[in-house]
Amino acid sequence: MAAEIRKAVIPAGGLGTRFLPVTKSVPKELLPIGNRPTIQIVLEEAVESGIEEIILITSPQKAHILDFFMRDTHYTRELEQRGKGELLGELRELLECVRVIEVLQNEARGLGHAVFCAKEAVGDEPFVVILPDVLIASRVPCCLQLMNAYEECGCSVSATEHTPRERISLYGIYDVAHSEGRLHWARGVVEKPSPDKAPSDLSVVGRYLFSPEIFDELAKTKQDRSGEIQLADAMNALAAKGRMAAFEYEGRQFDTGDPIGFLKANIYYSWNSAPKELTEFMNEMIRGTPQ
Ligand code: G1P
Repeated sequence: MAAEIRKAVIPAGGLGTRFLPVTKSVPKELLPIGNRPTIQIVLEEAVESGIEEIILITSPQKAHILDFFMRDTHYTRELEQRGKGELLGELRELLECVRVIEVLQNEARGLGHAVFCAKEAVGDEPFVVILPDVLIASRVPCCLQLMNAYEECGCSVSATEHTPRERISLYGIYDVAHSEGRLHWARGVVEKPSPDKAPSDLSVVGRYLFSPEIFDELAKTKQDRSGEIQLADAMNALAAKGRMAAFEYEGRQFDTGDPIGFLKANIYYSWNSAPKELTEFMNEMIRGTPQ
């Protein structure tokens, strides 16, 4: 039986610089995977995991992400008048399952700061954090896997996986104190180490379940040299108290914040809609790029 976790925080205030120039005017969370924006796919994961409330952390420049979550807009009314309201039926049903509130992060001061902005909206209960860049395809939704792991470890826990050496410096990496099957208790977390300095190959994957004590640690976390509050520093403080674990989730992640990861996600999520056409196209590409 999974713990009752009702709220999810989605930090969506980032500038999306890896996707410039498109992100100059389109928030990266609205870029499409097939015909769904990435944020819809993470919303589906949250709802399938039993989440009832989404706390979306946005910046003043990206406030229009919220339009996507509004059920009654000029656009929806116009579609309905033309008898085409059902085209948005699936999205409407999804949005009926969850309340979305927005919290503005006025300055881009890092992931830790973004999560801290959700303190009041979360209150005194455990919650999940979903990084919307990271899409996770899995049989059991990844947030639900974390809820089950939380039942077992009783402390904050993030998703983790073994990471190839060449990608170690892109992630937070766990220093593991001890392990029981797929659950690892952390001694610490090092943010983006060089592969030679990494304490293990277990990376922090963009799904976290935090007990509210993370807010106490974030309040104490000092900004780094670039003025950011790092979530990994607060996780490190929890780990020092034996209160941070990592769970090797089952599934596969796509980092859609990076153009190649985004392309792979598009192929993966579109495959079932046109397997023959896509296979033929891929084969054509492998045989030689058309001139
Ligand atoms: C963030 C975290 C990092 C984590 C990663 C997962 O980094 O700081 O610890 O491993 O997400 O995707 P970012 O990708 O925002 O640089």
